[in-house]
Amino acid sequence: MVQTKTKVENNRKADYPIDPLFINRWSPRAFLEKEVPEEVLLSVFEAARWAPSGFNNQPWRFILARTKENLELFHSFILPGNLSWCKTAPALALIVSETETEQGPNPYHEFDAGTASGYLEIQAAKQGLSTHVMGGIDREKAREVLQIPEKFAIHSVIVIGYLGEKDTLPENLQEREQPNSRRPLNEILFEGKFNQTLIK
Ligand SMILES: Cc1cc2nc3c(=O)[nH]c(=O)nc-3n(C[C@H](O)[C@H](O)[C@H](O)COP(=O)(O)O)c2cc1C
Repeated sequence: MVQTKTKVENNRKADYPIDPLFINRWSPRAFLEKEVPEEVLLSVFEAARWAPSGFNNQPWRFILARTKENLELFHSFILPGNLSWCKTAPALALIVSETETEQGPNPYHEFDAGTASGYLEIQAAKQGLSTHVMGGIDREKAREVLQIPEKFAIHSVIVIGYLGEKDTLPENLQEREQPNSRRPLNEILFEGKFNQTLIK
């Protein structure tokens, strides 16, 4: 744990004051085989529940896998590059979102699902868990295996668990097992018009 904390500080520095949670959360690939208590998992999804959404439609749904049987079903649609490291993680959750409302198509469902996923990851970090979103899945297979209705878009699987040891990973992933950085704020924040930077 101490070693990981040092690593985050080596790789990440906030240029403006923020809650340390935001830079201490990162997406590892080494997870312990340790189970996550149910009440902890429920808190993590409770946080996602309180995400804002267009018209408060809450289009997100999460399908959780934590039994051997359910985890094996998930493993069947996770692409090999991701499966190579997430096989031992104790909990996986597929995030999907309803693409339509009673009034017609919901243009916000993807935005809303992303927000809920971010809330989930921050709450997980607060509870001492690590998470890693994986878009690298076979969506058609996931639809078939988990019997997901057509009106739901399939997004990503979120790996949820406790940070493991880097040397348990396949060799090619060990060197990537560290927090990455971000573009500077002046590259992503504009004022007035596109590309007009606020920070000189
Ligand atoms: C929508 C989405 C899809 C992602 N897909 C994958 C993936 O398939 N495999 C993977 O190893 N990481 C995946 N990631 C993790 C990102 O690479 C990671 O979040 C990003 O590099 C930032 O690093 P951090 O989360 O450690 O801060 C995905 C993240 C998001 C948000």
